[in-house]
Amino acid sequence: MQFSERVRSLISQLTLEEKAGQLNFLVGDLFMTGPTMKTTASNKFDDQIKSGEITGLFNIYGTEYIHRLQRLAVEESRLGIPLLIGADVIHGLKTVFPIPLGESASWNLDLIKKTARAAADESTAVGINFNFAPMCDIGLDARWGRVAEGAGEDPFLAGEISAARVKGFQGEHLMDEDSLAACVKHIAAYGGAEAGRDYNTVHLSELKLRQTYLPAYKKALEAGAVTVMSSFNDLNGVPCTANEFILKKILRDEWGFEGLIVSDWASISETIAHGTSKDMEDATVQCLKAGTDLDMMAEAYLTCIPQLVNSGKLSPETLDHAVGQVLHLKEILGLFDDPYRYGNLDREKSTLKSEEYINLARQAAEESIVLLKNENQTLPLQAGKQKIALVGPLANNSMDMNGTWSFFAEPNDPVTFLQGFQSKQPEVEYAQGCELYESTEKHFAEAINLAEKSDIVVLALGESAVMNGEAASRSEIGLPENQLDLIKTLKKVGKPIVALISAGRPLALTEVEELCDAILITWSLGTEAGNAVANLIFGEVNPSGKLPVTFPRSVGQVPMHYQLTNTGRPYEGDYSEPRSERIYQSKYRDVQNSPLYPFGYGLSYTTFDMSKPELSKEALKPGESITLKTTVKNTGEREGTTVVQLYLRDLVASVTRPVKELKAFQRVKLNAGESRSILFKIDVEMLKFYRRDLSYGFEAGDFKAMIGMDSEQLLETTFSLFDEG
Ligand code: GLC
Repeated sequence: MQFSERVRSLISQLTLEEKAGQLNFLVGDLFMTGPTMKTTASNKFDDQIKSGEITGLFNIYGTEYIHRLQRLAVEESRLGIPLLIGADVIHGLKTVFPIPLGESASWNLDLIKKTARAAADESTAVGINFNFAPMCDIGLDARWGRVAEGAGEDPFLAGEISAARVKGFQGEHLMDEDSLAACVKHIAAYGGAEAGRDYNTVHLSELKLRQTYLPAYKKALEAGAVTVMSSFNDLNGVPCTANEFILKKILRDEWGFEGLIVSDWASISETIAHGTSKDMEDATVQCLKAGTDLDMMAEAYLTCIPQLVNSGKLSPETLDHAVGQVLHLKEILGLFDDPYRYGNLDREKSTLKSEEYINLARQAAEESIVLLKNENQTLPLQAGKQKIALVGPLANNSMDMNGTWSFFAEPNDPVTFLQGFQSKQPEVEYAQGCELYESTEKHFAEAINLAEKSDIVVLALGESAVMNGEAASRSEIGLPENQLDLIKTLKKVGKPIVALISAGRPLALTEVEELCDAILITWSLGTEAGNAVANLIFGEVNPSGKLPVTFPRSVGQVPMHYQLTNTGRPYEGDYSEPRSERIYQSKYRDVQNSPLYPFGYGLSYTTFDMSKPELSKEALKPGESITLKTTVKNTGEREGTTVVQLYLRDLVASVTRPVKELKAFQRVKLNAGESRSILFKIDVEMLKFYRRDLSYGFEAGDFKAMIGMDSEQLLETTFSLFDEG
């Protein structure tokens, strides 16, 4: 990486201690004090900023506070180097959008880019210039709580979505006042934690690592992300923060990434707990040499670098390169030209929770909701026509609608489901029904009473904001027992039941499916939660969400995803054959192999039909492409949007290949009765994979092309790839 003359000049002027300070990145000391955060926090960091011991602070907020800190750095430190101001703006700052997993269910890349742009606008308005997002970790294990923060299980979809988020955060030009640095995290394979337990060890073949876990990071970096965050986990025995294979061979040598690598929270010093470093000095040497430039929260670099360089254990070149990365980031953010470019009181007033962003939040929430069941057209309801009992601990709950990673948000901002319903039908009544976690029946009687005098029961259940996200792994992934008890109790009342399920992961909803007439996944929908849900329930908006993750029948099936390989003994039964005939095939004795709801699945209030795929030709050669065509028709009574998905299968290859892989998709909005031809271009790029020798390329042979509106109901055709090479 060639640094500018300014950066090189600064490096030549910095003392050893000041260089160590440029690699020291700490969390701020602001905290929520009710509806707004303090904007003039204590002067806890003033001396360290003036002495050059801090290169930046994160998770702080507010123009006045941040400009005060910048002024200290610029006017009172020896070389006047401005501060990085980082933050976790994972799904909005003040205007809160659906959690990333939920928003991914929209499959709407344009919308996703817009919400990231809005988040960047609000964040830069309050002084933030470095966002620790997008999280691009593939999560195949629903027990892992951080599935909530990503873009689902599929490498292709997660890559497309992560790239859209990067473009939204960084905008047209990184120097623009409403653009901030994106950070691709957590590299690498953090979602592969053994047993779904957060921070746990990850062991993956290089084939699986490259085929499943790396593509989304790569796509996000190809979108221009200027930073990367190393992950907590060890990968195949080496903590990623000290992992040269990941940080150097993959990131730098193979992908050509030249930007800054920041550790995760104290992950440098945590190499000691991992047992691969004996002390902070050892951790510092290993992590710096592996390529981790910036030390978040460990203060290892600050305390150890001077004597490591003086004792010859750390080369000045290695140190100077890391310092150059930090100064380079500050330079491309424009901080040297104008340290006060981020943060503007007028922009705060005009940007935060603007009408435009509130409307965008509602659209994002509406398009994120997935309709999983709608027996006998229970939904939509007609406002005023039925007496509705709205029951559940999440029905009249604002704070939990913000979801995980939303601590800049106002806890009382989100529109509750009750508020949304009552805006359509004022006489909707509410009963809590049960607690979120505690198992008690003390609220049952009130709920039963309300249900008995109503025509329909709408339940608001599922996970609260703290039941998913970081350090929130769960060994069970169903609804909490007392919530299930409530459903069973209300079922006896005999009224139709609609379930609104908040979730930050796939939940095992087998019993819910049996008990309820309609089910919607409402994730954590953010600021406009209640209005979005009401617009769908009362039919003003037609559900269009599609699952970005597979929903299992049981936690026993986990880790679960749709990109299965066939095995040598694929199960071909339908679980109806008697146990005695259960032959030696790959299956469980006690649950079907299939998911409860497959990847890509989601219903609509209308229906769609799709014609068999037609190919422009039966075969292609390298450099050529085939066009696949299908006609989609809205066969229902109302306008609707669906997602046409293209899956491919390599029938014979040098390694076992998934029986289907998503390769392209198109969101299609059709009026009632309207038909449209949908074309997909299939080329050899789509056919490449990591082969037996781990080289990336295609192999001649036969392929299956499958199209559908989920990953199971598919129409097939075949084609061949010839390679005269
Ligand atoms: C956390 C998370 C990471 C976040 C960082 C700063 O522990 O792992 O995603 O960006 O620390 O808050």
